[in-house]
Amino acid sequence: MFKIEEDSQKLGQTAAVIIARQLIKKPNSVIALPTGVTPIPMYNAFVELMKYGIVPVEDAHFFNLDEYVGLTKNDPMSFAYYMDKHFLSKIGVIKHEIPLTNAKDPEKEAQNYEGKIKALGGFDLCFLGIGIDGHIGFNEPGTPFSSITHVAKLQPSTIKRNSKEFGKEVPNLAITVGIKTIMHSHHIVLMATGTEKSDILNKTLFGEVTTSVPASVLQLHPNLTILVDKECAKGITTTNARSFR
Ligand code: PGA
Repeated sequence: MFKIEEDSQKLGQTAAVIIARQLIKKPNSVIALPTGVTPIPMYNAFVELMKYGIVPVEDAHFFNLDEYVGLTKNDPMSFAYYMDKHFLSKIGVIKHEIPLTNAKDPEKEAQNYEGKIKALGGFDLCFLGIGIDGHIGFNEPGTPFSSITHVAKLQPSTIKRNSKEFGKEVPNLAITVGIKTIMHSHHIVLMATGTEKSDILNKTLFGEVTTSVPASVLQLHPNLTILVDKECAKGITTTNARSFR
């Protein structure tokens, strides 16, 4: 399904409703969550939805897609900090996993993380943002489609973009859920907002399926929802978008 929303706020509400529906259908769902600018409205909208007291979260398992290597979890650059700020502190106690940023052995931490996901049967629902280089999670261009959770080296463009709000460089290594792990999700929701994502979305959805554009693998997924805002949709080739809908 390809859905165009009025703006990033509306997109966030739609995404939050997808989480709520999933949890009402299957309260012990395993749900993968992204970080970045794009999903913030989704977290805000989900926190609002929770106030009705009708969405069961107690039995759900939430897993973050990725985390930097080498920070402390109280570092504002860490995704643990981000999740606490936008989601966990507002929603109360839930089952939530994120790779340890300060793990002594990051490779082992990646293996453990994959093991935890596998033990629960994989993701029922996986939300993704997309990098302007086509990364999903921190699977940068060139990552094999067969990858599971691993330690990834980040592209200079990703480091530059993600460092913007901190005034210093984010680490160049991260632990990320792999492409195979993502592709084994029952339902995937890809979210993109703003004109800067149009170009990579055209390549992702209508270009060649290639490891040079990691997100292009999503063309092979049988249950993919794409949520974009109007700004982003403007740059998506209309005939392509029509044929995709
Ligand atoms: P963004 O990041 O939402 O901040 O654009 C997306 C991503 O890198 O996955």
